[in-house]
Amino acid sequence: MLTFLGALGVTSRSRGRVAPLCSNDSERFFKESNLSQEERVNLYSILEEADLDGVGQIALRHAWSLSTFLDRRPVAEYNSEAFRTAQEFLKHHRGQDIIIDAGCGTGVSTEIIAEGNPDQLVLGVDRSEVRITRKKEREVQNAQFIRANLVDVWRLALEHRWVVKKQYLLYPNPYPKKTDLKIGGELELRSSWLGYVQEFAHALRTLAQDEEVMKSLGLAGRGIKISEVQTMQLTNNYLSNFERKYACSGMPLYRLLVHFGDRSS
Ligand SMILES: C[S@@+](CC[C@H](N)C(=O)[O-])C[C@H]1O[C@@H](n2cnc3c(N)ncnc32)[C@H](O)[C@@H]1O
Repeated sequence: MLTFLGALGVTSRSRGRVAPLCSNDSERFFKESNLSQEERVNLYSILEEADLDGVGQIALRHAWSLSTFLDRRPVAEYNSEAFRTAQEFLKHHRGQDIIIDAGCGTGVSTEIIAEGNPDQLVLGVDRSEVRITRKKEREVQNAQFIRANLVDVWRLALEHRWVVKKQYLLYPNPYPKKTDLKIGGELELRSSWLGYVQEFAHALRTLAQDEEVMKSLGLAGRGIKISEVQTMQLTNNYLSNFERKYACSGMPLYRLLVHFGDRSS
């Protein structure tokens, strides 16, 4: 069962990051460049601190206004159409668990996740036509890609009572948005921006502690577990292009794991 959690893409500022090169070339670029370790990291790093007080308040405000926001925002036709494609795919693989790679970009991570989980179906969703239609590196039978806005995909998945085992949110570009995530099962967030991961965790904890908000989001009675922010030690087992790019620059990468627990009723 997918669960709706608004306000999680909430962050109090935009990212403002400049990516100087295509991630596929990043290993070569850093090998050939004469940049010092500090200069490499500075290419991508963001100096802002997490604003935990601010994000907690924003998360609560957005949670309360979520249904009004959705009422005013009909599902776009292109998203419905993309969702139908996903439904067809699921029909042919009935009974298998669903994993969503949310904001999958060119889909490298979707394919790696699908290869690592041959008994599960992995749906890569991205709104960028250019990225999602990029030629895929592997032929993976249990992966499907759709070009769609995640907000509508989450709404439709909820409406169609999809059971989502896990969602990956890999290196999202955060920006202030009224509704950003609808989460079920388990969530794995990875980012190079410590402040963002801290804010994300704090927003979730703030919501989880508020019983009324949890009820309004349909999450009451669940034992939500939010991990501490973890620093990842990656050598070359990169899950996505952005992960590769940031890891090759030498900057630390962070992860948050969330278990949304079982429904009590
Ligand atoms: C920084 S890229 C990361 C891509 C990939 N996950 C990776 O790690 O290489 C963020 C991706 O999220 C997608 N995205 C952002 N907001 C989205 C939304 N509301 N619906 C669908 N895709 C979205 C963008 O198009 C972009 O491809």
